[in-house]
Amino acid sequence: MRSLRILLVEDNPDHAELAGRALLREAHVNEVVRVESGQDCLERLANDCNFDLILLDYDLPGIDGLETLRKINKNGYDMPVIMVTGHGNEAVAAEAIKIGAYDYVVKSGNYLAALPAVVMKALENHRIKKEHAQLRENIEQNYLDTLEVLISVIEAKDFYSRGHSERVSRYAFAIAKEMKLSSGETERIRAAGLLHDIGKIAIDKQILLKNGPLSGEERKVVQTHCKCGVKILKPATFLGEILPIVHQHHERFDGKGYPQGLKGDEIDPGARILAVADSFEAMTSARSYRSAMPFEEAVDEIRRRAGTQFDPEVVEAFLIAIKKIK
Ligand SMILES: [Fe+2]
Repeated sequence: MRSLRILLVEDNPDHAELAGRALLREAHVNEVVRVESGQDCLERLANDCNFDLILLDYDLPGIDGLETLRKINKNGYDMPVIMVTGHGNEAVAAEAIKIGAYDYVVKSGNYLAALPAVVMKALENHRIKKEHAQLRENIEQNYLDTLEVLISVIEAKDFYSRGHSERVSRYAFAIAKEMKLSSGETERIRAAGLLHDIGKIAIDKQILLKNGPLSGEERKVVQTHCKCGVKILKPATFLGEILPIVHQHHERFDGKGYPQGLKGDEIDPGARILAVADSFEAMTSARSYRSAMPFEEAVDEIRRRAGTQFDPEVVEAFLIAIKKIK
């Protein structure tokens, strides 16, 4: 294990001295930096956040330990915090855990003897938690990469749809940004743009790649790609949030879309955005049986369909966003 640095927030010099000594007796701790107040702690972290753990006394001059902890959390520092409380202060300890302290220690007769073990346990658990998070992120990324490969397999079969999902995702992202949606929502829409047509992998390729307009029956088969997409993505729980968009991206604002015939606000807001992005991309791309519609003409067409096929608010944002990415 590498050597550890601990930030000790303690106003009482005697307590600080004893706690510092107890921690330094632990073989892996090579530095204990002491500050005397919550404010000093925050200032220290702003200049140097290279600590492995914070030992935070509750009873401090100025802002107390809980308030300091809230501010530490707000700044997103990635290190465990152990709250140190006086005897009989269980309510503070419980509140500290609730707002994100890793553990707490009560200043009782022999707490200094137990302190190094509590600190080492917190550090070990923090390390394991980080490893798990990294592992999960890698698995999710691998899964997304696999899905993107599947998309390119579908698109590679059809010269005319090559790059479609990528462009839809870009348009949808630009509209979401223009609508000033949260970064989480914008990301959800961007990811759904990439994966919205994944269900097409389950559609008979004779129909999917047909050279010309589809018959009524064939159209029904193609329309099942929304449900198929949900089926394919459902096992990946981390993609749960994008399922409504994948399912509803062919719904229409006036209720005449598919597969459920939802209308207006019943349709997921992300799906209402994707519907515009998807249609615009389809209009401006050539098909085997028709050429691409000129850019300005397609923009007019989207404008014309506001309130019928598309959500007017989304169209409004699209008209501004499209000028920026033209
Ligand atoms: Fe689609």
